[in-house]
Amino acid sequence: MKFIPEVLLLSLTIILLQSSIIFARQYENSNHIKTATFYSEQFVLEPGKVTITDLFDIEFPRGHIGIKNFQAELVDEHRNSLPLYEAYLHHYFVLRYFENVTMSRQANQSQPIYGKYFRRNDGVCQGSVNSYSWGLGVDARKTSLELPDPFRIEVGTHPENVPKEYNEEKWLFNIMVIDTRGTEDKKGCTECRCDHYNVKSEDFVSKTGIDGKPMSSDYKGGIFCCEKTSQCKLQKGYNNRQERKASLKYTITWVDWDQYQVPIKFYILDVTDQVTYNGSEPIHNCMVEYSITPQNTDIGHYHIKRTKIPMKKGGNLIYSTAHVHPGIVNATLYGENGKVLCAVQPTYGTGEEPGNEKGYVVGMSGCYPKPGSIKIQDGEILTVEFIHENKYNTGLMGHFYVYLTEELP
Ligand SMILES: *[C@@H]1O[C@H](CO)[C@@H](O)[C@H](O)[C@H]1NC(C)=O
Ligand SMILES: *[C@@H]1O[C@H](CO)[C@@H](O)[C@H](O)[C@H]1NC(C)=O
Ligand SMILES: *[C@@H]1O[C@H](CO)[C@@H](O)[C@H](O)[C@H]1NC(C)=O
Ligand SMILES: *[C@@H]1O[C@H](CO)[C@@H](O)[C@H](O)[C@H]1NC(C)=O
Repeated sequence: MKFIPEVLLLSLTIILLQSSIIFARQYENSNHIKTATFYSEQFVLEPGKVTITDLFDIEFPRGHIGIKNFQAELVDEHRNSLPLYEAYLHHYFVLRYFENVTMSRQANQSQPIYGKYFRRNDGVCQGSVNSYSWGLGVDARKTSLELPDPFRIEVGTHPENVPKEYNEEKWLFNIMVIDTRGTEDKKGCTECRCDHYNVKSEDFVSKTGIDGKPMSSDYKGGIFCCEKTSQCKLQKGYNNRQERKASLKYTITWVDWDQYQVPIKFYILDVTDQVTYNGSEPIHNCMVEYSITPQNTDIGHYHIKRTKIPMKKGGNLIYSTAHVHPGIVNATLYGENGKVLCAVQPTYGTGEEPGNEKGYVVGMSGCYPKPGSIKIQDGEILTVEFIHENKYNTGLMGHFYVYLTEELP
């Protein structure tokens, strides 16, 4: 009988001790959190033009750090937010690379990445497809990429799978913007509809798609019709000589790395991934984008796109959201047993101001399960599902962002 209160007392002391430790850590953490806003180099937009730019060695916090958040948006030369109905941010991608400066000095126009070694995210598409560390597009302003404490993307270290001679960590922006001022059909231009860019189906005869296979001759739209300096149809008589300078404004939140930070792995599950197997080894075939054309529309209001993706390495789900294009209804991630792991909903704009542009999907919600409450097993086969309005629509994306940790604090 005497035993019980003592045990209680003991555990109470432990609880008290633990909570004071937790409090101390959080206090310490909140003191450490740093935030900085940067502006990328400027690039030029012109009515109807597609601008695709690669900016190497962007400003980025240095040292061994953990990134908590990355948010970006498009601004004009006076640093004012640009509305999507004038400058449509198709995407920005942030890629991590390691450079050997001696080697990269010999790089030239035709081989700008000579001397640079790209380090992709943790998966799961093939090769360098969807390999970015952060990225969004039309949905950038109201989609959060913030990780809860103490989970971070660890950077400023030399990963084991990067050869030693590539010794300097740097970051690249790949940005694609479609300037829709004065165009006949803004929606067609932002969807990269081939006929709006004067690209004919014969032009695809000898081209290979992202999966390395010959392209289909009924390709109606997407990134292959929106290449550098492609021109979308303008209204008759519209003055196209209205250059405008833009840049990407980005805000990074980070902490210095210490033993209290928990590293996170970042996976992109692409709804276009048609997984095949070599024995038990999955082979990913991500196409990055898909279309709903008059030939493949479903019956009814919704177009449902689904795929099954095996996760070689599992972990605890810490955060999840999705990158989408306009017309999205919702997106859901399911576990192998059919349980919903995360369901995300779009926010559509209703006004004029940047971040609330009418008719555009300006953001997606996200899921923050209690750490430890959702565990994905090694080898578990997840299902991703993107439901879209059932309308002719090209160049759609359905990328589920999945942040996992293999350890819990
Ligand atoms: C520079 O470009 C040429 C092709 O124009 C290529 O043959 C050469 O290897 C490149 N230089 C380097 C250092 O890669
Ligand atoms: C960079 O590459 C050159 C040529 O391969 C090599 O000699 C040099 O040691 C490398 N630099 C580092 C820091 O490893
Ligand atoms: C399948 O796996 C085997 C054993 O790892 C390998 O030798 C072979 O090249 C693979 N085949 C393909 C098509 O990838
Ligand atoms: C997604 O939208 C479809 C169509 O409206 C609906 O039936 C489904 O319940 C929604 N899913 C979630 C998770 O909200």
